[in-house]
Amino acid sequence: MDEKINAILKEIAQYTAADDDALEDYRMRFISRKSVIGELFGEMKNVAPEDRKATGAKLNTVKNAAQDKFQALIDALEQQISGQAVHDVPDLTLPPPDATIGAIHPLTQVRNRIVNIFERMGFNTVDGPEVEDDWHNFTALNFPPNHPAREMQDTFFIEKDRAEDHSDIVLRTHTSSVQVRLMETQQPPIRAIMPGRVYRNEAISARAHCVFHQVEGLYIDRHVSFADLKQTLLHFAQELYGKETKIRLRPSYFPFTEPSAELDIYWGTATEADRRVTKGTGWLEIGGCGMVDPNVLENCGIDSQEFTGFAFGMGIERMAMIKYQIKDLRLFTENDVRFLKQFTAFN
Ligand code: PHE
Repeated sequence: MDEKINAILKEIAQYTAADDDALEDYRMRFISRKSVIGELFGEMKNVAPEDRKATGAKLNTVKNAAQDKFQALIDALEQQISGQAVHDVPDLTLPPPDATIGAIHPLTQVRNRIVNIFERMGFNTVDGPEVEDDWHNFTALNFPPNHPAREMQDTFFIEKDRAEDHSDIVLRTHTSSVQVRLMETQQPPIRAIMPGRVYRNEAISARAHCVFHQVEGLYIDRHVSFADLKQTLLHFAQELYGKETKIRLRPSYFPFTEPSAELDIYWGTATEADRRVTKGTGWLEIGGCGMVDPNVLENCGIDSQEFTGFAFGMGIERMAMIKYQIKDLRLFTENDVRFLKQFTAFN
């Protein structure tokens, strides 16, 4: 027994722990319940009764020695680590590493350009709420009571069927709601654009998303004509995409404009990609437009005998896709740095 105790004492005295693993090995061997010392305590029953007192005292000495050494090993390791920390302090006299340059999100870049182009034409930029009531999103805009756009498949409802009077609360499905807010609070001349986020209950794909961005425009004054609308859109398209850009208006239907048109931009059919993105026609649709329906003017307290106006609404994602040849709309919201990094140069 004495021999074993001496051997263990010697082992303890010589033990060094360079890392946490070695420390754990030590703990298992000398401290834990299954340690060699624990085993010796188990052997006490074999010791002759007259020797038990002395052997017990020796065993306690080993136990204490093991514990003291354990603490010493811990302290030594900690010192070693904090010593390293001192070495890790950065050299403050070094020149800083190259900063990575951030990029403005492509949607924000395109939005800023659009705002800029229209501001040069004298349009104000106006903001409005994304959570809207039925009046501003639908009713004031001359949507007939059972128009399909009010139905669940297009609209996210916050509160539905509150009353017969169309006081549902919705996530706005277009920025036309901001037109209503503007006309309700301001008399013509009104010349403004409303960029913003809109929501539609649609399946997410390469071409559609349930959250996207529009920029709406509104111009109301005496003698505003469809020719003014067309010229404004042509000028805008040429500013955004270049002097040679051609546009086309196709007859369409919106409850709030009459006549109404779809706005296309000529993209070309030169390459396979051009033909694919334009479905073989060379033309890309970017939004809708038209002359503000007199009912809408009257709903908002503007005299439709005296004033006329035009309005348009365009998708910002679509315009950015055209500008930067982006094939999948989902890239805009995935926050993939490899995608976003490509726009540093365009700031
Ligand atoms: N609000 C329409 C849409 O979201 C676009 C539009 C705006 C059409 C203004 C005509 C006039 O589809």
